Amino acid sequence: MSSKTAQRQQVTTSSPGKLILFGEHAVVYGGPCIVTAVEQRVHVTAQFNGVGTLIVNAPQMGIKNYRKELEYLGSQEMPKQVSFIEALVKRFAQKYGLAQGLDIQTKSDFSHTFGFGSSSAVTVATVKALSELYQVSLSDKELFDLAYRAVLDIQGVGSGFDLAAALWGGTTYFVRGAKKVQPLAISHLPVVVAYSGVKADTPTLVRQVAELKRRRPQVVNSIFSKISQLVEDGKKALQKQRWFQVGELMLENQKLLEKLEVSTLKLEKLVQAAVAAGAYGAKLSGAGGGDCMVAVCPPARKHLVARSLAKAGGTIMEVKLNAKGVLCQKN
Ligand code: MEV
Repeated sequence: MSSKTAQRQQVTTSSPGKLILFGEHAVVYGGPCIVTAVEQRVHVTAQFNGVGTLIVNAPQMGIKNYRKELEYLGSQEMPKQVSFIEALVKRFAQKYGLAQGLDIQTKSDFSHTFGFGSSSAVTVATVKALSELYQVSLSDKELFDLAYRAVLDIQGVGSGFDLAAALWGGTTYFVRGAKKVQPLAISHLPVVVAYSGVKADTPTLVRQVAELKRRRPQVVNSIFSKISQLVEDGKKALQKQRWFQVGELMLENQKLLEKLEVSTLKLEKLVQAAVAAGAYGAKLSGAGGGDCMVAVCPPARKHLVARSLAKAGGTIMEVKLNAKGVLCQKN
């Protein structure tokens, strides 16, 4: 590999964030979900540095010249902001070896607080950059598997749907671990997205649902199967661009998430505000506990829905959905 490494000294990649439309939480237990990639991207530049050290700069996350010797990757204290990169580099090194150290620089189009999946986007952008830098030819599924292992190393839980959005982009029907990744041919999605103002912690909420499932297995399993059916119906409605039906299904999905106890009063207030202003439907998007909500509405009412959401305390997020998956620019 070292003779090849001389050929390419620097690679820049970028991956989109994500917004889940249907199926959160049930997807962790093997049900399907539908996720769309958002055109707010995380950019990663990786280059060899000639020393046996990983050096990370992620200024927007307050990381300046973070250093870890390659032999200690994944051990010792590491700030959360670099943990996904470090876990990924370690996984990559274990599998393919690292001839020398790396400088990794990240830049994000969005704040990590919004729940758009900055950790998954940075993990995918990094694995793509490393495969290009080291000229290791990997299929998308192999890239996914490496990234998924790294995320599980750090979070312990998760379906990997956010990695799929970062890798494949577009709008996809997804089953945990990328057992199924089916792109849906959807040209546009008439949605308004609002941030609730509260940063949620996905692993905490996933564990909270696991605890509820342990205490009330029948109730939770029945909610999961209803959510999975909603995902199937949502997929058809999206493909046929039946936005009214998509909205109704979102409202049903929201009710089921409330029963899973992951919604919040603020998220419910935003959902109601969207519907009151003419949205077909709305729901929280992601693990719950905060982060964003999404409303589907007639294009002519988008500005009214946005105004109503802002009045209810939401921050309107200008997002372009259906974004391209990971992109690579070779230097
Ligand atoms: C979080 O955005 C969505 C969850 O389903 C977790 C996951 O699928 O990894 C709650």
